[in-house]
Amino acid sequence: MQDDLKKLAAQAAIPYVKNCRILGVGTGSTVNHFIDLLAPLKHQFEGAVSSSEASTERLLALGIPVLDLNAVGTLDIYVDGADEINTNLELIKGGGGALTREKIIAAASKHFICIADHSKLVSRLGKFPLPVEVIPMARSYVARTISALGGQPVWRENFITDNGNVILDIHRLDILEPMKLENTLNNITGVVTTGLFANRSADTVLLASEQGTQTLTL
Ligand code: A5P
Repeated sequence: MQDDLKKLAAQAAIPYVKNCRILGVGTGSTVNHFIDLLAPLKHQFEGAVSSSEASTERLLALGIPVLDLNAVGTLDIYVDGADEINTNLELIKGGGGALTREKIIAAASKHFICIADHSKLVSRLGKFPLPVEVIPMARSYVARTISALGGQPVWRENFITDNGNVILDIHRLDILEPMKLENTLNNITGVVTTGLFANRSADTVLLASEQGTQTLTL
């Protein structure tokens, strides 16, 4: 079952917590397993920087201190899931809408560990609609601009990010050059962040399957 594999991937990240002072913690169903497994170890580290209100709530409920990124400097590790992963360890993230804070934490971390079940590994990114966080008043403008680039943006209605913005999910993208597309989308006025993690990709991917957990690095 997929959820068992998510838990297996989360378990594989636990040894990386050893000797860490402060961890970055992502968002989503795979990371929820990681947070639960982290709870018994909470006396071994100072606390976590969280990428969403949902993860913050879960961390605090388990007694894990949540710290302000501005107060702690560089993070030892960042553990998070992904929606798609390619063999260059470039990712699509943001299915849960937490992409901006996730990207900030990834940037501020020494070691980005991505945990996922094997269904997330793809030969080419783009089948999963690419989330883009947008300032609300720029929604239509950004959508038109992305349409002109060949994508099909769909407004994630009735969803507001933790930062008060909206999400456009971009369908029909065959992402041949992830870094280039990330830069292009980042340059559209009104875009806050894209869910493409190519310029800052994962350092390690822990990929769980029925056969066990595989460690992917470059
Ligand atoms: C949250 O915004 C995402 O980036 C998640 O990391 C991603 O959607 C993976 O989620 P699951 O672990 O629930 O599959």
